[in-house]
Amino acid sequence: MARPYEKIPEPADPASPVSRGVPKGNVCVVGISIESGSAEAMRGTLVDALRRHGLVQGEAVDGALRAVPRHLFVPGVPLARAYGHEAVVTYRDESGAALSSLSEPGLVAAMLEQLDVRPGHRVLEVGTGTGYNAALLSRLTGPQGHVTSVDILPGAVAVARRGLARAGYAHVETVVADGRLGHPDGAPYDRIIVTGGAWDLPAAWAEQLAPGGVLVVPLRLRGVTRSVAFTRRDGVWTGHGALSCGFVPLRGDDEVAEHQVVLGDPPVLRIRADEDRALDEAVLQRALDRSETLVWTGVRPPGGENHLDFGLAALPECCRVMPDLDAVRSGAFTAALYPWGSMGAATGDTFAYLARRGIGDTAEIGVSARGPASADLVARLADLVRAWDRTRHHVLRIDAHPRGAAPSDATWTVPKRRTTVAVHLDPPDPTPLPSRSALVPPARAPR
Ligand SMILES: C[S@@+](CC[C@H](N)C(=O)[O-])C[C@H]1O[C@@H](n2cnc3c(N)ncnc32)[C@H](O)[C@@H]1O
Repeated sequence: MARPYEKIPEPADPASPVSRGVPKGNVCVVGISIESGSAEAMRGTLVDALRRHGLVQGEAVDGALRAVPRHLFVPGVPLARAYGHEAVVTYRDESGAALSSLSEPGLVAAMLEQLDVRPGHRVLEVGTGTGYNAALLSRLTGPQGHVTSVDILPGAVAVARRGLARAGYAHVETVVADGRLGHPDGAPYDRIIVTGGAWDLPAAWAEQLAPGGVLVVPLRLRGVTRSVAFTRRDGVWTGHGALSCGFVPLRGDDEVAEHQVVLGDPPVLRIRADEDRALDEAVLQRALDRSETLVWTGVRPPGGENHLDFGLAALPECCRVMPDLDAVRSGAFTAALYPWGSMGAATGDTFAYLARRGIGDTAEIGVSARGPASADLVARLADLVRAWDRTRHHVLRIDAHPRGAAPSDATWTVPKRRTTVAVHLDPPDPTPLPSRSALVPPARAPR
C-alpha cells in the first residue's frame, strides 16, 4: 500500500530574502568551508571539492555540475545548504520518514560518472525528486539526446517541473509513474539511472535498456546499499564498481520496504531492517532489561569506501542498529561505530551492534549486545569483523543472475524475487575508489 504523504510547502521564490540571506563569512559544511557569495561561486567551490575527492573525474560531469544551478531546485533553502555536502529532504510521510530529497552532490556526481552519459543518448531516470539530476542528465545528453524522468509522487513531479523551467530545462520529459515499470513509450534507453533504493531489478529495466546500455542503481541488500553500474548480457547483469550510499527506498505495492523497531519509552534505540525480516518489537524490548555484553575486537575501523557493512550483511539476522545519542552520552549505551548507528544483528529478544572506542589517535571496533543470546551474537559478529579485517582492501563486485542461477564462487548470494544477487570480494584493485567519507560519513542511514 502506498503510504499517504505530506508535501512540505514549496518555499518562496528563489529571489526571496531567505535565498539571498546567506550568512556572511565562512559556513562550515561537514568539514569543508564554503565561502558565502554568489550561487555560481559556491557551485564552483563545491565542484572543486568533489574533484579533489575523486567524485568528479571527467570534464563532462564537471561541466554539467558547474552549469546547472542546483539552488533553483530547492527554492527558499539557504544557498549554503543547497551547495552543502548533505542531502536536502523535500518530502516526508506522516511519520517523518523522508520520501524525497535533493541527493547529496557527491553521490549525484559519482553516480553520473558511473553512468557515463554521452551526447545524443536517450536516458531514463527513475526518481525525479526535485528535477536537479534530470537537468544534469539533459546537460550531458545535449540537444541531440533525450531525458525522461519518472516519479511515483505526483507532487514531486509538479515541483520538479517548476524547478526545471526556472533553470532552463523545461524540455526534460517528466512523468508520474511507478519507475519499476520503466517508461516503455520512450524505450530503448542507452542509459537508465535509478535515484531511489531498489530491492530488486525489475524485468522492465532489462527490457527497456538498449543493447550495450548501462543501468546505474542503488541496490539494497539486507539493509546495506551500493550504487552499482550494471551492463547486461545473456540474461546476467554484470556489476562494474560498487559505491556505498543511502537512499530513500523505492515505493510500490509489492516493494520490500524497511521497517523500524523502536525500543524504550522514551526511545533509546532503533533497529531498522527490510520488511521481510520478522522483528517483534514487544519481544525485543525485553533486551533492554538485560546487562550489556561488550567485547573489543582489536580491529581498527575502516576509512573511506569499504565493505565492512557487507561483511556483516552475510549474517541472516543482520540489521541496522541506532542507539540514541543522548542515551550514549548518558552512558546507558556504548557508542556505535558511527554516531548515527551501525550495522548489527537482532534475533528474538537479543540485539547487538558494532561499537567504537578511541585509543590515542586511533580507534577500535567492538561489539555490544543485550539479551539472552548475547554471547553467541557477539562471538559471531566479532568473527565477521575480524574476517572483514583480513580482506579490508578487497573490492566488492556485485552481479545479478536470473533467480536461482548464481555462480558457486560467489562470497555470498541473496535471493530476490526476480534475481539472485551474487556478491564477490576480489583482490585489491590498484586504482583507489573515490570516497565521500571526508565530505559526508559513509554508510549513513537512508534519507
Ligand atoms: C532521492 S529522491 C530523487 C532525487 C532526484 N533524482 C533529484 O535530483 O532531486 C528519490 C525519489 O524516488 C521517488 N520514488 C520512490 N519510489 C518510486 C517508484 N517506484 N517509481 C518512481 N519514483 C519513485 C521518490 O518519490 C523520490 O522523489
